[in-house]
Amino acid sequence: MFDPTEAGFLADPYPTLSALREEAPVFYEETLGRWFVTRHGDVRACLRDKRLGRNFRHVGSEEEFGAEPLDPRRRAFWDSERWSLLWLEPPEHTRIRKLVAAAFTPRSVESLRRPAEELAHEILEPHLERGAMELLRDYAQPYSIAVICHMLGVPTDRQHDLLDWSHAMVKMYEFDTTEEQAAAATHAAADFRDYVLELIEARRHEPHEDMVTALVEARVEGEGLTDAEIVSTIIVLLNAGHEATVNTLGNGVRALMRHPDEWLRLLSGEVSPAAAVEELIRWDPPLQLFERWVLEEGVEVAGRPIPRGQRLSLLFGSANRDPRVFDDPERFDLARPNAAEHIGFGGGIHVCIGAPLARIELEASLRTLVEHAPGLQLTEEPRRNPAFVIRGLEGVNVKLHSKDHRSTSETGR
Ligand code: HEM
Repeated sequence: MFDPTEAGFLADPYPTLSALREEAPVFYEETLGRWFVTRHGDVRACLRDKRLGRNFRHVGSEEEFGAEPLDPRRRAFWDSERWSLLWLEPPEHTRIRKLVAAAFTPRSVESLRRPAEELAHEILEPHLERGAMELLRDYAQPYSIAVICHMLGVPTDRQHDLLDWSHAMVKMYEFDTTEEQAAAATHAAADFRDYVLELIEARRHEPHEDMVTALVEARVEGEGLTDAEIVSTIIVLLNAGHEATVNTLGNGVRALMRHPDEWLRLLSGEVSPAAAVEELIRWDPPLQLFERWVLEEGVEVAGRPIPRGQRLSLLFGSANRDPRVFDDPERFDLARPNAAEHIGFGGGIHVCIGAPLARIELEASLRTLVEHAPGLQLTEEPRRNPAFVIRGLEGVNVKLHSKDHRSTSETGR
């Protein structure tokens, strides 16, 4: 029996995932009522298969697909998802994605590189003086939220609210969401919506150089986005972008500290932070599983027929350690030549639209640690967050060796 909520599995899922992957490319788990896909090639093929969808409601009813109806008490939460790229399928997905891409251009993302570097240093600086910090609370979270807020045009004094809303809302994506968590997610969605509506109104009256303005002004073939579509888009940009980036840095720093030789390769310049980011995402991905519904008859996964209406869970962490693609896959190797073949950003029509920003953000935050905190060390083993889908840590306490910091900044490094 595969139980992704079991404590031992959450502590280290990889031995179980490897065993499952080598036993079968796809299997059905009765207790969870869904199929699991374990190998890189099959996960990738599923992501690209247009007969599979993140949603089914455009082709059939909840009853037909054996899904729980959306709880009307959680209306504000589901309304906020309604126009999210992660909720839509073509043709709605195609229309909204084009408009979001028109606002989220490679140029606008590249223009965030400099602010990201500055923000990383600014946020790290006071902790360097103290010589210690909790990496997630003190560095990764304020940094990631600051970069996204900078991009969206959200003023600094509201960043805490966005962080709280995002934390509450993403609990809805786990296997074991409690009633209390669902209620909190709903309140958060309502507050978040009201805030974004205010922001849209403000930017309509006075455009800024930011993403909210770009979304308000985006046009493809003369058509733009409605307010409800902009609200869902802003919420998904924050929620999809923020937690994954924070957890990549948390999981990644833990991996680096547990493999000091690899950290040294970064310090010596043998491996660049940009290259290292790919191995961090491959080795311990922050998002372990994405689902697809089978929308049509005739679908086969790894040669096995899967009827319409079934649900597939694609195991990214398992795919990323598939020996069919990665040599010696359990080894954490920052210079791995094909690390970027990881499945961490997905594939097909839903491929992560924020991947270029995530790469810039992670590269800058890692480089800042390498340059200003080369003596970085864990002071205790971090606690694992008891969740599988969004895989992260809590309490990543580190020493920063402020003496090293002074000597490196004095030498201008
Ligand atoms: C390390 C960081 C990140 C990881 C690992 C990650 C991973 C992913 C994955 C796997 C998907 C596809 C989901 C699926 O196919 O079902 C996705 C979609 C998405 N991501 Fe990311 N992401 C990251 C950062 C970001 C950032 C920084 C943003 C935006 C600021 C972002 C925005 C989105 C959006 C809007 C989608 C939906 C795209 C669509 O459905 O068309 N992500 N992400």
